[in-house]
Amino acid sequence: MRAKMQNNAKRGEFMQNNTIVHVQGVHKELSNDEKTFPILHNINLSICQGEWVSLVGPSGSGKTTLLGIMAGIDRPTTGKIFMHGQEISSMREAQLAKFRNEEIGIIFQSFFLISSLTALENVAVPLFIGKNKRHALDKAADMLAQVGLSHRLNNRPHQLSGGEQQRVAIARALVTEPAILYADEPTGNLDSSSSQQLMTLLHTLRKRQNLSLMVVTHDINVAAHGDRVLHLYDGMLDDKPANTALNRPAVTIPIPQNDPNLDWGR
Ligand SMILES: Nc1ncnc2c1ncn2[C@@H]1O[C@H](COP(=O)(O)OP(=O)(O)OP(=O)(O)O)[C@@H](O)[C@H]1O
Ligand SMILES: [Mg+2]
Repeated sequence: MRAKMQNNAKRGEFMQNNTIVHVQGVHKELSNDEKTFPILHNINLSICQGEWVSLVGPSGSGKTTLLGIMAGIDRPTTGKIFMHGQEISSMREAQLAKFRNEEIGIIFQSFFLISSLTALENVAVPLFIGKNKRHALDKAADMLAQVGLSHRLNNRPHQLSGGEQQRVAIARALVTEPAILYADEPTGNLDSSSSQQLMTLLHTLRKRQNLSLMVVTHDINVAAHGDRVLHLYDGMLDDKPANTALNRPAVTIPIPQNDPNLDWGR
């Protein structure tokens, strides 16, 4: 509780300049027995509160690696990651895990759903920590309704389609009402209509919760939802990309006034 209050105080300080995440001089290397492979080179970027940043780049350019480091599930070789002014890259694992649970939502490129749990239980997992179980399940059911899966609460992952599993992963990432959502190819398994519904949901949540987003995508239509599009090539951010088509202004889509009772085209 005290830590949360301190976090909120720090958040207040940082909201004055509106920066929620700051990446400073990040390098990442991976090594095997014989060789060291550079993956990311001197990455510097900031994300403001409520901002939607798209991250694009060729396969293997380091997008997932960067997202993992920014989300605190991987560590940089050198450099620092700040969130709400706190350096998460130097936190001990237990403190970082708590911080991640409260502040960060992650949609992985692979879903990492727990096969022995139902869709409802998978979404409730992040809420089970320190919370009443009934409350967690009710909140999880509400979040699953928002991604159009009220009729699949009790199915286990192997009983769900790829797109349905992706939506369960999305619900799990958002159920804790994080300050920032990191999403790695969130529409990779969705058809174009479901992709559009997801974009609408993310715009709604962003408006309602002042959610910040960083979305990795290969889909030009998804990237265009960002306020900014960052390009990663060979582990380096390129401010002046050759492909200006991806740098067009963010698209404007209508935001529902009430809760988005979305029709996900079942
Ligand atoms: N554990 C690892 N060991 C060695 N190399 C790795 C490891 N994980 C990733 N890499 C390499 O790091 C580079 C960046 O990988 P990363 O997964 O971040 O790329 P990406 O931009 O997300 O690609 P994609 O668009 O295909 O998902 C790739 O060359 C990859 O082969
Ligand atoms: Mg990737």
